[in-house]
Amino acid sequence: MNWYKVAELIDIHKPFIKKVKAGGKGICLVGYEGSIYAISATCPHAGAELSGGWCREGKIICPFHRYSYNLQTGKGDPGQNDYVDTYPVEVRQDGVYVGVITFLEKIKQAFK
Ligand code: FES
Repeated sequence: MNWYKVAELIDIHKPFIKKVKAGGKGICLVGYEGSIYAISATCPHAGAELSGGWCREGKIICPFHRYSYNLQTGKGDPGQNDYVDTYPVEVRQDGVYVGVITFLEKIKQAFK
């Protein structure tokens, strides 16, 4: 897994949603209730930018059709039958980092 710095130090107590890039992937970085989450930037339903959405009850709500996704697991609400990818986040002394597994690493893991 490669770690990418995606933001300077952020006050994790102020809610935010922003789109960042890490390892060639578009990622939605979310500060919510004192934690930072990283999920896919694009809604799997019809491609909306999740960074244009908002959070409620531990989920991000898509601005287009209001599907919602759990910030920790990426799972969509019951009946949606979809999910968004989630990524690990580390807050280090010099900023916020997101871990991304490369395509080659995924293939290696599949054949272990
Ligand atoms: S594009 Fe996100 S819910 Fe439809």
